[in-house]
Amino acid sequence: MHIDLDFKNRHVVVFGGTTGINFGIAEAFAAQGANVTVVSRREENVAAATEKLRVHGHGVHGACADVRDFDSVGRALAESVAAYGPIDVLVSGAAGNFFAQAKNMSSNGFKAVIDIDLLGTFHVMRQAHEHLRKPGAAVINITAPQSTIPMRYQSHACAAKAGVDQLTRVLALEWGTDGIRINAISPGPIDGTEGVKRLMAQSDAEREQATNMVPLQRLGTLEDIANLALFLASPYGSYISGAVIPCDGGGALESVKPVLEATGRLAEAQARST
Ligand code: NAP
Ligand code: COA
Repeated sequence: MHIDLDFKNRHVVVFGGTTGINFGIAEAFAAQGANVTVVSRREENVAAATEKLRVHGHGVHGACADVRDFDSVGRALAESVAAYGPIDVLVSGAAGNFFAQAKNMSSNGFKAVIDIDLLGTFHVMRQAHEHLRKPGAAVINITAPQSTIPMRYQSHACAAKAGVDQLTRVLALEWGTDGIRINAISPGPIDGTEGVKRLMAQSDAEREQATNMVPLQRLGTLEDIANLALFLASPYGSYISGAVIPCDGGGALESVKPVLEATGRLAEAQARST
C-alpha cells in the first residue's frame, strides 16, 4: 500500500508547539506541506520555533498565549484563522509538571498543573470549535501515562491528564456529528524532552533505568509521536475517534514490573529462564 501523508495547504495549529514533543509534531506537519501555527507563553520560544519551521517553506505563524487565559487562546486562534482559514488539525499539548508529594504541595501548585493541562485543553478545544473544518477536522490532545497509571508525586498530573482523556472521549461524542474526530496520544518517555528531564532522567544512570523500564528497550523519539499524529490526522485515521492511544514502546503495560522487582520475583524468574 502506498501511504500518502500529504498535508499541503492544510491548516494545523499546535498549542504548546514551540518546544519538545509538540514542536516535533508541528515540524512533521510543516514538512508535509501544512501551514502551521505554534502557540505558547514565551516570546523567545515562539520566535525560535517559527524560525525553524520556516525552513520547510510553507506558511508559519507564531502566537504568544497562555492556555489558562480563555481570551488569549481565542485571539491566537482568530489570528491563525485570518491567515490560513478553517483549522484542519488542532493539537492541544501545553502542559506543566514537577515532582512533589501531595502532602507538601500548595493549593496553587496543584491548581497550576490542573489549569494548564486540563482547563487549558478545554479552553483550546472550546475556542477552536467554531473554527474547525466541518466535516473533516482532527483534534489531537496530548495526554500521558499518568492518566491511567497512578504515580507517586504526580497527583496533579495524574488528575489533570485523566481529565484530558475523558474530555477527549466526551467531545468525540458531542462533536462527532459535526464530522470532527478527537483523539489523544499518550507518549512514553521521549528522549531529550523537558518531561523526561524533570521526571525520569537527569543522570546517565537514571536514563538507563528509564530505558530498561520500556519493553522495547529504548526511549521514544520526537518522530515516534509525530508519525502517530500524522497518521491520526490523515485519511488513514478517518474512522478513529475518541481513542487514547499509547505511543510508548509498551511502557504502560509495565506498571507491575517495579512490584515484581521489589519482591525479587522478576530476578528469580529471569534466573530460572537462563
Ligand atoms: P515541553 O517541551 O516543556 O513542552 C511544553 C510546551 O507547552 C512548551 O512549548 C511551553 O512553552 C508550553 N506551555 C507550557 N505552559 C503553557 C501555558 N500555560 N500556556 C501555553 N503554553 C504553555 O514538554 P514535553 O516534555 O515536550 O511535553 C509535551 C507534552 O507531552 C505535554 O503535554 C506532556 O504532558 C506530554 N508528555 C510528555 C512526555 C515526555 O516524555 N516528555 C511523556 C508523556 C506525555 P512556553 O514555556 O513558551 O509556554
Ligand atoms: N515543587 C512544588 N511546588 C512547585 C514546584 C515544585 N517543583 N514548582 C512550582 N511549584 C508551585 C509554586 O510554588 C507555586 O505555588 P505557590 O504560589 O503556592 O508557591 C505554583 O506551583 C505555581 O508556580 P509558578 O512558578 O508561579 O507557576 P507558573 O505558572 O509560572 O509555571 C509550572 C507552571 C510550575 C508548571 C512550571 O514548571 C512550568 O511552566 N512548566 C512548563 C514546562 C513543563 O513543565 N514541561 C514538562 C511537561 S511534562
